[in-house]
Amino acid sequence: MAKILVLPGDGIGQEIVPEAVKVLEKVAAKHGLDLQLQEGLIGGAAIDAVGKSLPDETLAMCRQSDAVLLGAVGGPKWDTLPAAQRPEVAALLALRKGLGLYANIRPCFLYPALVDASALKKEIVVGTDMVVIRELTGGLYFGEKFREAYTVTSLSGEEVEMGEKAVDTLVYTTPEIERILKLAFETARKRSGKVMSVDKANVLESSRLWRETAQRMAADNPDINLESMYVDNCAMQLVRDPKQFDVIVTENMFGDILTDQASMLSGSIGMLPSASVGGEVALYEPAHGSAPDIAGKGLANPLATILSVAMMLELTFNMTTAADSIRNAVERVLNAGYRTGDIMTPGAKQIGTTEMGALVREQL
Ligand code: NAD
Ligand code: IPM
Ligand code: MN
Repeated sequence: MAKILVLPGDGIGQEIVPEAVKVLEKVAAKHGLDLQLQEGLIGGAAIDAVGKSLPDETLAMCRQSDAVLLGAVGGPKWDTLPAAQRPEVAALLALRKGLGLYANIRPCFLYPALVDASALKKEIVVGTDMVVIRELTGGLYFGEKFREAYTVTSLSGEEVEMGEKAVDTLVYTTPEIERILKLAFETARKRSGKVMSVDKANVLESSRLWRETAQRMAADNPDINLESMYVDNCAMQLVRDPKQFDVIVTENMFGDILTDQASMLSGSIGMLPSASVGGEVALYEPAHGSAPDIAGKGLANPLATILSVAMMLELTFNMTTAADSIRNAVERVLNAGYRTGDIMTPGAKQIGTTEMGALVREQL
């Protein structure tokens, strides 16, 4: 029995998650996986319903599940809440931290049919196939944060208030760096053996510890070909020559930014799935957000969420054949020329969220 908790959340989460759930149901039936699906509240939707973006019941339900499928959280309606109550912080970051999900795996793969969907030139993106391993429970996101009055002492010795001071601290410990690099090495072993560790070791102390740790571990793992690169250069190299990368490992905020950028190599942020792992129960979530600009219009691309279901089958349930059947179904639909607006290419047929979900299921 596979107990799966479904958390649609906000914005397009409400539209894409039902499509992915129906894909999961069909694949589970075909491959003999006995599903027990439950739905829970999270994000702004949970604030509106019960006054809290991560209700205790939702967290408890996560802990009793074998896997969790999340849409997205956040939106303009909740942007003005105090920082600690915002869905992004109080629900998503709290859930990742609460479940101990220190690693976010974001595969960035370009389906050949989508070469013309990328904003980049075809000859640059064709053949893109990389995985970004993003540290998910450390760094700036979880450091000490505060504001206080910003004062200077005048010549007469008086404290003069000049405005405000805002502080975010960036902390990494050796064990945090070691465990994420270990996952990157394990991932690389199943691929080319190449790992690019991305940091800002020319400026940041936390990055210097990161780089030293990576190099020490590489010395103990001679089968791994580890290189380090500064994050600013990596941002440039990703669009100059993405095929030089296979596995990228990096800290939380660099990974957040680089993966949105890398998503354009796959055609759209709507194509980028993810798995947040390392803790009590894995969380499968598209890399994109709640897309308020298109929410409620039936335009959202459900493929990142559908491909996150494939990751769930592979990583949580060890069902590689079932996972591949989803990826192949997606490929056939794209090859047949069907596109949501975000991946539209010349001559293709534009369809909406529910049509895309239905076409993928037809191909299963
Ligand atoms: P976003 O990823 O929601 O949207 C960025 C752009 O990409 C928008 O133009 C949007 O329409 C488009 N887009 C995103 N997903 C798409 C899809 N599946 N199909 C087609 N187009 C898609 O990022 P944002 O606009 O910066 O943030 C919107 C809200 O989502 C904010 O509240 C933000 O905090 C939140 N957010 C949540 C998550 C999450 O829950 N994991 C991730 C990122 C952002
Ligand atoms: C993501 C999102 C989140 C992050 C936000 C919503 C907290 O951008 O999953 O990439 O920065 O991790
Ligand atoms: Mn992000």
